[in-house]
Order: sequence, then C-alpha cells, then structure tokens
Amino acid sequence: MQKLLINGGKKLKGVIKISGSKNSTLPILAATILNNNLSELHNVPFVKDVDTMVNLLRSLGSDIKIEKSKEILRIENKTELKTFASYNLLKTMRAGVLVLGPLLAKYGKAKVSLPGGCAIGARPVDVHLKGLRKLGAKFKIKNGYILASAPNGLVGKKIRLEKISVGATENIIMAACLAKGKTIIENVAREPEIKDLINFLNSMGCSVSWKGPRKIQILGKKNLQNTKYKIMFDRIEAGTYIIASAITRGNVLIKDINPNVIRNEIKIFKKIGIRIIELKNSIKILPSGKFKNIKIKTEPYPGFPTDLQAQTMVLMCLADGVSKITENIFENRFMHVHELNRMGANISINSNSARIRGVKSLKSAELMATDLRASVSLVLAALLAKGSTKISRIYHLDRGYLNLEKKLSNCGAIIKRLE
Ligand code: UD1
Repeated sequence: MQKLLINGGKKLKGVIKISGSKNSTLPILAATILNNNLSELHNVPFVKDVDTMVNLLRSLGSDIKIEKSKEILRIENKTELKTFASYNLLKTMRAGVLVLGPLLAKYGKAKVSLPGGCAIGARPVDVHLKGLRKLGAKFKIKNGYILASAPNGLVGKKIRLEKISVGATENIIMAACLAKGKTIIENVAREPEIKDLINFLNSMGCSVSWKGPRKIQILGKKNLQNTKYKIMFDRIEAGTYIIASAITRGNVLIKDINPNVIRNEIKIFKKIGIRIIELKNSIKILPSGKFKNIKIKTEPYPGFPTDLQAQTMVLMCLADGVSKITENIFENRFMHVHELNRMGANISINSNSARIRGVKSLKSAELMATDLRASVSLVLAALLAKGSTKISRIYHLDRGYLNLEKKLSNCGAIIKRLE
C-alpha cells in the first residue's frame, strides 16, 4: 500500500495552481445523462472520484473521450443508456447516487445501489428520495438497491427540503429539468458547486433559476443541446493550500481562483492572522506572524465548510490560547484528532465540538489517513513538523487532490510517495 513520506519544517515558496472542483465535476458528469448531445467539459480534475464517476457513466453506456493533459472531457449519449448503477461503483463514492435523478427523469426507471458506508457519518439519502417522490417517483429498497420507477413520468411540483443537503438539491434539480411543467424547490443548498451545476444545466438548454437565496425554479424541457463548459475552481483545495502556506510561514501565490467565492473563509483566515493579499484571480499568502485563537462552526454555505474543518484545526494547533470548532454537518468528522494528538497537539473532543489548545509546534510521527479531508490535514501537520513523517492509507487523498505531491514539492516541500 502506498505511503507518503514528508520531511517537514520547510517554508513553502512559489505558485500553486488550483484545479477544477471535484464537487462540481461529479454532479455535472451525472447531469450529462440528461443530454443525448455533446457535453465538452474543461478544467476537469482527473482525481480518483472523477475516474469512478467516469467508469460509472461508461458502465451505463455513455461515450466518453478524455484529453487528460488538457483537462478536457467529452461525453455523448447517442444510444439509450442502461439504468443500472452497481454497488461495485458506488461503494467507494457516495456521489454515485447522483445518477438516480437524471436516469429516472430520462427513462422513468433506475436501479441504483445505496451508497457505501462512509467513515465520516451515516449519510442517508432520505431527503433525495422524498424530493423525487414529490415529482412522482416510486421507490422500493431491495438487497441494498434503490429500485426507482416513474411509470407516468415526472411532473413538476413544489418541494420543500426538510434538511439542507447538497446532494439532494442536485439530484432533485437534475430530475426536474426533464419533468413536465414547473418545479419549485425551497430550502435548497446554495454551495458554489450547485451554482456551477445550474450554470452547466442552463448551458445545455435547461431552465433553472434562483427565486430567492434558498429557492430555485426549474421549467422542464424536452430537448437539450450541445454545450462547452468550464468547471469552477476547487475552493476546498484552495483553502487547503492557503493553510499549508500559512502554517509553514510560507510565501505562496495561489492562482486560478475567484476570491469572492471564498469570501467568508478569507475573512476567518485573516482574523486568525494569515496575511492575505487578494488579487483578481489569485491570492498571495505572505509569511504570517502569530496566529490568534478563534471559535468557528461548520455550516452550509455561505457558512464555514465542513470540508475545511480538519485542515483549519491544524492551523489552530499553532494559535495562542484555546480555539474551538463545532462540527454541525457530519457526526463523526474528528478522526484526525487522535493522529494530531499523537504529533503533540492538545485537542479534546466533547460531543460535536473540539477544543484546541495551541502548542509551539507539532512533532513527526507515523500516521494513518482515514478519510479525504482528514488525510490532507495530516499532510499539513507533517509539513509543519520537523523531521520525517510517514502517512499510510493515502488512497483517500487521491480521491480529491490532483497532483498534491507535485504542487507541494514545486514550492519546496520535501514529500514523496513510497510504493
Ligand atoms: C457534499 C460534498 C461533501 C461535503 C458535503 C457538505 C460532494 C460530492 N460532496 O456531500 O464534500 O462535505 O456536501 O458540504 O459534493 N443528509 C441526510 N439525508 C439525506 C442527505 C443528507 O440526513 O438524504 C445529511 C448528511 O448525513 C449530512 C448532511 O445532511 O449530515 C449534509 O449532507 P449533504 O449536504 O447531502 O452532503 P453530500 O451531498 O453527501
């Protein structure tokens, strides 16, 4: 099993180009099912989760051509697709369930595996199913599969999500794009990746519009058209490298981003003491001085993202006094804490809150990665700790970070992959 070996204590210096967003690419790929015509996607991050979604779409019959070096993917569905998404393809990636809405809307039926268990929490799909039911879908759960049908097609309705869910919002929007008539969805998630999905859908002829901060209207369409679309930047990757630069007291230009999309994160990072200069499509991180303690809680966008919680905790390990993070999205997302404490951090957990008492620095150790964002927080901790840190189970990192070692070593980090 591959491991990462990091010799920490080096200041990062240079330029890091941020890739396209994984969490935009996954729903956008699922949305291409709605269209028989060509979707040409640019700025596609070919990380493991994207490969898994590509494999899933190919298993349905989509014709996909990839130009990896140009970050372009072309997809066409000239023949009728299969409507079966197997457990094998969904067990490692929950976002596979996003094919449910599009398949159901296009073919009136689908058999989609319930997503595999996830280390960070139970992650049910009840909100997805309740919304799709309102549009006329019927579901049975059998042997770990969702058996979905819509014998009379889907029909637009007014839906209010009982919980803000990124995936449910995406699944229901996509299904409504081919439903008969008008759908209104209230209490939707408004993450930037949802806006990206909507822009993509509209680019291929769907009609999706915002009617309020958490209200969306969709007018069902019959025919869609060719489209060419550029995926937005990965805001979580950007946040991760901002923290990497700050904790190593580095001097790094983080480019190909839109600072407006991460306004709230920038505000919080500045409050902690990260020195940030905002430019048009990039930000510059200057060598930081002392970090101040802070209290943050994770919330749906525009609140602080749960996907940056673990990384921010490493930053707080260096802050004066006691900081606090409350995790409001997932019930089991503190798995990095034990490993950070083994490196000399002083973090205690009480229910869904972590109390982080600042320390001078962290010490190298042998570590084990547990999930995507927890893994990258260990990489950050290793960059900070003097000496050599070995991290095992790094396949989690490959799910969501493109060329992580290359991006960091270009800035002076000593990091290499051991087979
Ligand atoms: C997406 C992101 C993930 C991010 C999360 C929250 C992708 C591919 N993944 O995941 O990186 O951490 O948003 O920002 O975009 N829930 C239910 N019932 C449901 C659906 C969700 O109870 O039917 C709960 C979940 O267990 C969780 C919360 O709602 O506690 C939020 O989940 P959701 O927003 O749906 O996350 P994902 O779409 O899975």
